[in-house]
Amino acid sequence: MTTGGNNGLSASQLAMCKALTDAFAVQYGDCDGVQLVMAPGRVNLLGEHTDYNDGFVLPMTVDRGVYVACRARPDRRVRFWSRRFDERIDFRLGEAPATARGAWSCYVVGVVEELATSGQLERGIDAVIDGDLEPGAGLSSSAALEVAVALSLERVGGFEIGGVETARLCKRVEHDYAGVRCGIMDPFASRMGLSGQALFLDCRSLDYRHVPLALGDYRVVIISSGVRRALSDSAYNARRAECGEALAHFQSAEPDIAALRDVTDAMLAAHETNIDPLPFRRCRHVVSENRRVEAAIECLEAGDHEAFGRLMSESHRSLREDFEVSSVELDWLVDAANETDGVLGSRMTGAGFGGCTVSIAHVDSIPALAARIASAYAGQFNRRARTFVIETNLEAGPLG
Ligand code: GLA
Repeated sequence: MTTGGNNGLSASQLAMCKALTDAFAVQYGDCDGVQLVMAPGRVNLLGEHTDYNDGFVLPMTVDRGVYVACRARPDRRVRFWSRRFDERIDFRLGEAPATARGAWSCYVVGVVEELATSGQLERGIDAVIDGDLEPGAGLSSSAALEVAVALSLERVGGFEIGGVETARLCKRVEHDYAGVRCGIMDPFASRMGLSGQALFLDCRSLDYRHVPLALGDYRVVIISSGVRRALSDSAYNARRAECGEALAHFQSAEPDIAALRDVTDAMLAAHETNIDPLPFRRCRHVVSENRRVEAAIECLEAGDHEAFGRLMSESHRSLREDFEVSSVELDWLVDAANETDGVLGSRMTGAGFGGCTVSIAHVDSIPALAARIASAYAGQFNRRARTFVIETNLEAGPLG
């Protein structure tokens, strides 16, 4: 077994590794030669619904993720057992079983099939999957699962496909196996994010840059609304279609436009009266959100946390009013956070309609924020909201 000893792993990571290797031994007889990999979830600080419009995003990884214990097989048999769901898949490379869209197994089968079809994966694997990212919480558990499975297959298969290619592959899996026409942000963030840094990504060129998160006495705080959302819900694909409608309108007038990212403020102003209000608002969100990401990088680099927080709150307004992907629960959490002394800004994060909010908060304000949210939210919505403070965000890779 290779866990890499302590190697900087936290107590909860060490416990996860032990549970996984123990489960591996139970499933497959022993744990000789087992390797461990992990991929973290992500929270997006700014740049929402911009990735599939060729725009800019600014996510970071979180301190939770998906872990896989794996071992190569001498043949072409593929076995994965999910500890969380107590379910298994067992098939031979090239003979993948049908899976339900959105089930954990569809992501695993998708990654395996993509790598087998490209000729990179030629041998089988025995593996156990677990994690501390709740599926449906809005922190990209599916991207973390895909990235972790890709990493495990690289380990046992003795090949490397690199981070950018992994992100592209995971996006194809979301489209073709889960039926979600998402952008590239989530797997890119999970695979390429670094500890202590946010990731600025241009989703057109895939040029990226790590931006140090020198937040001083401030912290990134995530509040989970407790409202689960399934990304395969039609609302996400509907927003994409509405962006497509807006794009078609602008392209008919401005042939050089390849994506909503190319629409300028001047074009928006010129077209406001000759495009339907709904696609206009969707487009206005994308245009303004891209500007906010660019401004946010400057704020982070200049250490201007207040301005960064204001951009987050403006992003939320735009997502609520122009893109219409917020919810009463998310709006309530954002307002409650912003009314707390020491909170510089807040927004919903991820696709919307549930999931989480993200705030920048002074470290001294967090206990009051968490307490207030815990009691008042339950009274209002009869659900539990949970507050997470990101102290150390994780990096994808082998453990050991
Ligand atoms: C989901 C998708 C991403 C992105 C966000 C919204 O997380 O997977 O590609 O579109 O929603 O910004």
